[in-house]
Amino acid sequence: MSQPRLAVLISGTGRNLQAILDGCAAGDIDAQPVLVLSNRPEAGGLERARQAGVPTAVIDHRGFAAREAFDQALGDALEAARPDLIALAGFMRILSADFVRRFSGRMFNIHPSLLPKYRGLNTHRRALDNADAWHGASVHYVTEELDAGAVVKQGRIRIHADDDESTLADRVMQQVELKLYPEVLGWAASGRLRYHDGAAELDGQRLAAPLQGDYE
Ligand code: GRF
Repeated sequence: MSQPRLAVLISGTGRNLQAILDGCAAGDIDAQPVLVLSNRPEAGGLERARQAGVPTAVIDHRGFAAREAFDQALGDALEAARPDLIALAGFMRILSADFVRRFSGRMFNIHPSLLPKYRGLNTHRRALDNADAWHGASVHYVTEELDAGAVVKQGRIRIHADDDESTLADRVMQQVELKLYPEVLGWAASGRLRYHDGAAELDGQRLAAPLQGDYE
């Protein structure tokens, strides 16, 4: 089987993108990065892609009056790269149902919380405000409802007494996200992970609950 084609959508600095590109270069993710697509021309991740020799494209959402028109243009740019797998990596636009349906079953997101806790924004602050003992990140399939698709795996770390929003965000990124996302994408690239009837299947087994890992 030929290597799956992988596209990554970003909006920002692209630390997750870097881990994914490094994983591809090292062979841990057996996929060919074919496109890094950003909705922001100033996204730092675009330079990371150029350094890695991966084609980039920008569809600036500010150039569109309506979400549907932006999503159509974004989807067309993505489809032109013929991706088998799509990773949202710090992509900060909510995607319409039409867009999600176009790429259903092959699009992943990483979200910085232990889903179903804390969908949406400010996850680190909310975990601290609730005095949670654990926090982390989840990799899930993207479905029409925000941060609600089948979770493949989540990684957790303990919240420390002296953590603030910034230290916690940093530890979730360094200890969990940068390891968890390449791991799950590696399974998808090798064909071990599939999407079937709204659920994730690993090695032919439906995941009744997300896989869990301690990333202490
Ligand atoms: C990460 O925390 C990711 O989980 C969230 O946005 C952040 C992206 O950071 N959705 P980066 O662009 O990968 O550096």
